[in-house]
Amino acid sequence: MTRRVAVITGASGGIGRCIALRLAEQGFAVVAHCAQNVVAAERLVREIRDGGGQAWVAKSDLRTEPGVEELRRIVGDLLSGSPELRLTAVVNNASLMLGPRFGDVDAGTFDDYFRLNARAPLLITQALTPMMGDGGSVVNISSAASHFASPGDIVYAMSKSALEAFSRHAAPALAKAGVRINTVIPGFTDNGHPAFQDRTVREHMSSFAAMGGIAEPDHVADAVAFLVSEHAARTTGASLDVSGGSTIGARASSGPTMSLRDVAARFG
Ligand SMILES: NC(=O)c1ccc[n+]([C@@H]2O[C@H](COP(=O)([O-])OP(=O)(O)OC[C@H]3O[C@@H](n4cnc5c(N)ncnc54)[C@H](OP(=O)(O)O)[C@@H]3O)[C@@H](O)[C@H]2O)c1
Repeated sequence: MTRRVAVITGASGGIGRCIALRLAEQGFAVVAHCAQNVVAAERLVREIRDGGGQAWVAKSDLRTEPGVEELRRIVGDLLSGSPELRLTAVVNNASLMLGPRFGDVDAGTFDDYFRLNARAPLLITQALTPMMGDGGSVVNISSAASHFASPGDIVYAMSKSALEAFSRHAAPALAKAGVRINTVIPGFTDNGHPAFQDRTVREHMSSFAAMGGIAEPDHVADAVAFLVSEHAARTTGASLDVSGGSTIGARASSGPTMSLRDVAARFG
């Protein structure tokens, strides 16, 4: 009997943890990647094992080529030591978050963001998809921030735009191997950071979504679970937006909608 394996980068973080638990619930064995927070990754792995699942920690700094190679080695060793395991899903979720402001950007910071948020997903996909069979699936976690002007988070937003472009451009190449690749676009999502407890911060975040409010990690996990499933068998190179309408240029706070024709009519 074979068992599907999912690799989730940044599983020590709020959204990655939720994705890992969801895929474990659905019968995936989970490689829970972390960079610094080994305690959180080990706690997650224990939780999955206690629930009867299979999981392993993989620690590496994905800003570096050796870090990506380390992840490839861990996954390769795991698969070659257990012939019943079949790599089916890779979720590129790890990220340097938000910032820096336009005026604060320097070359080193820019490179760090791009190494982790855009280059690592490409290199990981290149390294791991040859281990996947027909039916494999890659999901990249982007951000609504790349869909509106974000001068306060300029490099983060640029790196996510590059990530989304990567999904589209890689889709035809991976289709030849029977592997799909898609993007999930979250808006503000409570990842457990203390800022999400602050009323003023919550109101500000909430104002970005046409639907208002802040998402839960489960909303992102729902989208990932769909994209790696058979239900998305004909979906590749696509983006699934779970941002509550943060990308459509209509904020919750923008008030009643009015046509420009109505506005012009006021002036005869
Ligand atoms: N939360 C939101 O409002 C929101 C909105 C839109 C999009 N997203 C996207 O959702 C994804 C998950 O975000 P989150 O909110 O769960 O963030 P988070 O809790 O801060 O988690 C970030 C993850 O990235 C990992 N990471 C950081 N530096 C790394 C490095 N050098 N190498 C490898 N991994 C590294 C962290 O690992 P360690 O902690 O182990 O170092 C952690 O697991 C990200 O792609 C983010 O852009 C989030």
